[in-house]
Amino acid sequence: MKILVTGGAGFIGSAVVRLAISRGHEVVNLDALTYAACLDNVASVADAPGYAFEQVDIRDRPALDRVLSDHRPDAIMHLAAESHVDRSIDGPATFIETNVMGTFNLLEAARSYWDGQGRDPAFRFHHISTDEVFGSLGPEGQFTEETPYDPRSPYSASKASSDHLVRAWHETYGLPVVLTNCSNNYGPYHFPEKLIPIVILKALAGEPIPIYGDGSNVRDWLYVEDHADALLLVLEKGAIGRSYNIGGENERSNLDLVRTLCTILDRMAPKEVSYGDQITFVADRPGHDARYAIDPTRIRDELGWRPSVTVEEGLEKTVRWYLDNRDWWQALLDRDGVGRRLGRAS
Ligand code: NAD
Ligand code: DAU
Repeated sequence: MKILVTGGAGFIGSAVVRLAISRGHEVVNLDALTYAACLDNVASVADAPGYAFEQVDIRDRPALDRVLSDHRPDAIMHLAAESHVDRSIDGPATFIETNVMGTFNLLEAARSYWDGQGRDPAFRFHHISTDEVFGSLGPEGQFTEETPYDPRSPYSASKASSDHLVRAWHETYGLPVVLTNCSNNYGPYHFPEKLIPIVILKALAGEPIPIYGDGSNVRDWLYVEDHADALLLVLEKGAIGRSYNIGGENERSNLDLVRTLCTILDRMAPKEVSYGDQITFVADRPGHDARYAIDPTRIRDELGWRPSVTVEEGLEKTVRWYLDNRDWWQALLDRDGVGRRLGRAS
């Protein structure tokens, strides 16, 4: 299959690109190369015969039309987005422009391309979204595919909007779409603005490790390569018009997670005192969602998907990767906003 992957120079998109190439697919990686992108993430496949890269912004409709007409993909996997909640608090406009208007452009370009190729029923538009569209849970319960949307940050509201657009393009125009909503990913190539890479890098730098609020907020963690595997499965086997929640059933409070990372670092990169001593509680994120938890029953029962690594294994692999790939993250330290507290909405 020839797959157009948007956002393929980012964290999850690059895992999808690497996995798809390793499974013999052709890939067109379309990415605007924003601050969050890194072509090193796909260096391992850049010379593969089935790989092509297009530096294109999804807000640029003529460029999207040109890429679709030049490459004629069998499917689109849409991951390009502004993805960081804290940045959406500081500057929501780009989130609306890329996540809402960019998705609208891509849907229209895909519809025109699909019409032009005779509305092939085998074509797929796979929209990759987040569990944050469902809002914030209390201590009990999980998000299912039927949970009503209740986004609470500019980021999650923009992703919810894009989900609604994708469903509307299916219902109204018949575009063969599938959707997925996944929980928090972690693993190699995670950009150092998100919690897990921040903890590792701050720990190694001997700086305070910032925990928002009291650290009781809960996230449901999934290793990024397991997410990429689930995405390719949904692309190939998912029912048209259906959405699938993806998660590893690995809930952790932020404080527990950070303590675990510090313990792993104490073992892998020991120093005189524990990295845990660097944990520092800082002002909370405005509108901080208390808890996310995914019920993955549908993708497990209908498509047979299961994650391959436990969170304990995944965190060990991740810390090892950051220790072994310092050149990758050191090159990102001077990118805009990296190393600085974001999202305080003062
Ligand atoms: P990321 O920020 O690491 O990567 C996003 C990529 O999209 C970057 O390479 C960037 O250059 C590109 N991009 C941004 N704006 C663009 C534009 N206008 N045109 C073209 N390319 C553009 O994000 P990620 O964490 O890899 O997330 C990928 C997708 O998965 C997003 O849609 C996100 O909402 C979703 N998601 C993320 C998580 C998570 O835990 N990170 C969980 C569930 C869903
Ligand atoms: O749930 C899926 C979502 O997970 C994705 O849709 C988003 O794209 C992705 O960024 C992620 O959103 P979160 O806001 O959950 O991730 P983040 O790494 O920013 O924060 C994780 C938790 O850690 C959250 O409760 C806020 C807290 N946090 C975050 C940072 C950056 C801290 O305590 N300290 C920090 O420095």
